[in-house]
Amino acid sequence: MPSTKLFSTLLFSLTLSLFLQTSFGADPLFHFCSNSQNFTSNSPYESKLKTLITSLIYKTPSTGFGVASVGQDQNQKAYGLALCRGDVSASDCKTCVSEAPKEILDRCPYNKGAIIWYDYCMFKYLDSDFFGQIDYSNRFYMWNLNNVSDPASFNYKTRELLSQLAQKAYVNNKLYASGELKLENSETLYGLTQCTRDLSSDDCKKCLDDAINELPNCCDGKEGGRVVSGSCNFRYEIYPFVKE
Ligand SMILES: *[C@@H]1O[C@H](CO)[C@@H](O)[C@H](O)[C@H]1NC(C)=O
Ligand SMILES: *[C@@H]1O[C@H](CO)[C@@H](O)[C@H](O)[C@H]1NC(C)=O
Repeated sequence: MPSTKLFSTLLFSLTLSLFLQTSFGADPLFHFCSNSQNFTSNSPYESKLKTLITSLIYKTPSTGFGVASVGQDQNQKAYGLALCRGDVSASDCKTCVSEAPKEILDRCPYNKGAIIWYDYCMFKYLDSDFFGQIDYSNRFYMWNLNNVSDPASFNYKTRELLSQLAQKAYVNNKLYASGELKLENSETLYGLTQCTRDLSSDDCKKCLDDAINELPNCCDGKEGGRVVSGSCNFRYEIYPFVKE
């Protein structure tokens, strides 16, 4: 699909600099501002958004996931969700979900909807109800610039590991799985898969399968890669990156 190609090409130069930044840990990976309306300073939406953000910062760290909606009037409600990576401690989760809204408000000022991703968490809000629906509109890829020496076999193993982890994640109560696979050259492939917990188990599986099918577009023959969306994501590397 030409649009997918264009998308990856555009993101390629971005990910180059993003990789350098994110090796230090706390900078955002990516963000999107939604196409929806803007709100104004001191408007009811602004105050609802503030309440929503406070609520998500409070709710999320204990379980690694939070959803909230604020407001009575259907047309004025704010909906939000925060998710921490499945292996992240409550305190690292709290740091991440506290930092995310500050950054997002800076990057998408007065926008009624936005989404931002970090290594440790994602944070999303919108002026319409998006809970329980697979997010097909917010998605990006990242990949390690290094090429593997045997792409065909490596790609096969990568798909095998991620498919196993998708099978594990969708039946897990946190919709999360991590694991590893030995490669022939005494290297190990490490991976994780995760969905937001507003999705049904079946939709989690569907979201991850769709993401895994993007492997050839995203990370063909690359030592590491991620497909990240508003509803699910995977990551694989040839070094351990999950805390356990
Ligand atoms: C919202 O504000 C941004 C930045 O000020 C502007 O570029 C955009 O056109 C506005 N969007 C709408 C829907 O008014
Ligand atoms: C990986 O392969 C691509 C395509 O063949 C090439 O353009 C790129 O320079 C290679 N990357 C590295 C780090 O060698």
